Amino acid sequence: MKEQASPHPLQTTFQELMDEDSIRTFQKFFASSKDLMSCYRCAIMEIETKFRVLDERFSLTHDRNPIDNIQTRLKSPESIREKLLRKNLPLTLEAIEKNLFDIAGVRVVCSFVDDIYMLADCLLRQDDITLIERKDYIEKPKGNGYRSLHLIVEVPIFLQNEKKLMKVEVQLRTIAMEFWANLEHQLRYKKNLSPEIIARTTRQLNECAQLSSVLDSQMQDIRDMIDNDRMS
Ligand code: GTP
Ligand code: MG
Repeated sequence: MKEQASPHPLQTTFQELMDEDSIRTFQKFFASSKDLMSCYRCAIMEIETKFRVLDERFSLTHDRNPIDNIQTRLKSPESIREKLLRKNLPLTLEAIEKNLFDIAGVRVVCSFVDDIYMLADCLLRQDDITLIERKDYIEKPKGNGYRSLHLIVEVPIFLQNEKKLMKVEVQLRTIAMEFWANLEHQLRYKKNLSPEIIARTTRQLNECAQLSSVLDSQMQDIRDMIDNDRMS
């Protein structure tokens, strides 16, 4: 999964903004966060496995895979620091756990729109999963046209001597939504553009998002037709 906070070419990187003392403090802090980051990696493994199991079981009965691919990412130390600063929070492990729910990220790219809701329901029905937040940008796309279903869930991880509840951000989207989001992300962080070009490209990107939505619903219709025919 790509980090949204990749620096703009014209932006100074965080190292350039920090004096040597702050860099040392930051590096020490992240050395101390090794254990917590490992817990987030374990949580990613748990959620990824749950989706792989769902995909395996669904393919057995339906003869097709609802999941095209799964991507995972752990938020980088630079992005964590930037987000804590942006939210006016201290650079502590407690602040990370209590406030940043996207340290662990799992993106599930699905074949069809109804696979997204089916997989999300199956995940949320599991008795060790707690839903913390749900944002449906498919039903209600963002202003720029961005579509995806976002869930923040809590999952237990079982360590040698304890059980720990970890938050994971899950993004579910179709291949068409992924195509649009990847290109939009590339373009957005690309260049120093004039206001006119920004306005024009924003409008065009929005049109592309609508086209991708039409593509999704037509592919879904075709699949429904084929499924109905196979059943009759
Ligand atoms: P953050 O502070 O960035 O986490 O915002 P938020 O808490 O409001 O989260 P939201 O659920 O809206 O979006 C979080 C993630 O969704 C981002 O890190 C991206 O991966 C993805 N995302 C959201 N909006 C866009 C968008 O407009 N374009 C693209 N390409 N990705 C987006
Ligand atoms: Mg986020």
